[in-house]
Amino acid sequence: MTVINNIYSGTSENIKKAADTICNGGLVAFPTDTVYGLGANVYDAKAVANIFAAKGRPSFDPLISHIAEIDFLKEYACTDSRAIDLAKHFWPGPLTLVLKRKDNNPSLDLVCSGLPNIAVRMPNHPLALELIKKSGVPIAAPSANKFKCISPTTAQHVADSLGDAVDMILDGGACTIGVETTIIDLTTTQIVMLRAGGLSKEELEEYTGEKIMISHGDPNQPSAPGQLLKHYAPKMPMRINVAEEDVKENEFFIGFGNVKNANLNLSSDADLNEAAANLFAYMREAETHSEFCGIAMSPIPMRGLGLAINDRIKRAAYKD
Ligand code: TXA
Ligand code: MG
Repeated sequence: MTVINNIYSGTSENIKKAADTICNGGLVAFPTDTVYGLGANVYDAKAVANIFAAKGRPSFDPLISHIAEIDFLKEYACTDSRAIDLAKHFWPGPLTLVLKRKDNNPSLDLVCSGLPNIAVRMPNHPLALELIKKSGVPIAAPSANKFKCISPTTAQHVADSLGDAVDMILDGGACTIGVETTIIDLTTTQIVMLRAGGLSKEELEEYTGEKIMISHGDPNQPSAPGQLLKHYAPKMPMRINVAEEDVKENEFFIGFGNVKNANLNLSSDADLNEAAANLFAYMREAETHSEFCGIAMSPIPMRGLGLAINDRIKRAAYKD
């Protein structure tokens, strides 16, 4: 039997160590009221990219940011009285709010999957709240399991699924809710439930006094961003899988690995995690260069985070 040494009890000292790990770009699995999350500093794109690598997630689905104080919301999300009321009433608790991003901070692009919206929640778990407070930043976290596996509700589940792909696993016992949060979209006039979860529709309807629409995961709806054919659309046409010798003179060349004349190189060391962390920022940078008529991108290998990168750039290059 493999002995997993990265499970830590929730002492104050261990929480401090975990907070330092987050601040230094590491990954920490932590308990919430719903399921265990696999956390990283929301503003550290490379650490966020490592979450996708650790999970083996083939696409960059947007992640939920975890905060410990409602005041933190206004740092990066547009809030109105409806959002603040819901947050005050249901937080901390199993409700995630999708709100418009306030700023255009590129470091949040990977967390938001290039969308203009951000999903935020405040977990009802003392250990999670202390970790977020001590880290001093919001923590981006999907459920702490391998892609396609069941969400973990104990520290041991996390260890069984992710092993040493995570730097620390904080043990807070079994999660009380055990299913993920209910996600609602507050960017529209009528509230839309994007995912049923730990907070019932009835409770939400009772509090808001309005009928909550349920999204049925139509691939043309932004509620399922990872499934849209055209997803992150740069302002200029983009070609992918372009060998260096085939780049046209009027194209901005985003290279990968050992290429000579790239305008930007996602990773000259051919490190796919580094490439994933740079991807959105470089696409943004490319489209600001109006002296070019298009973007050409090097082939990206289909291994590790390369699957996720290819998934994203395929959608970015999609012509409708
Ligand atoms: O209970 C939970 O919510 C757990 C704990 C760890 O907080 N987290 C969780 O994360 O379930 P994850 O990544 O497994 O699911 C997040 C869901 C995805 O379906 C994603 O598409 C959606 O949230 N989501 C995140 N940001 C979004 C956004 N800006 N707009 C629409 N949907 C978003
Ligand atoms: Mg999940």
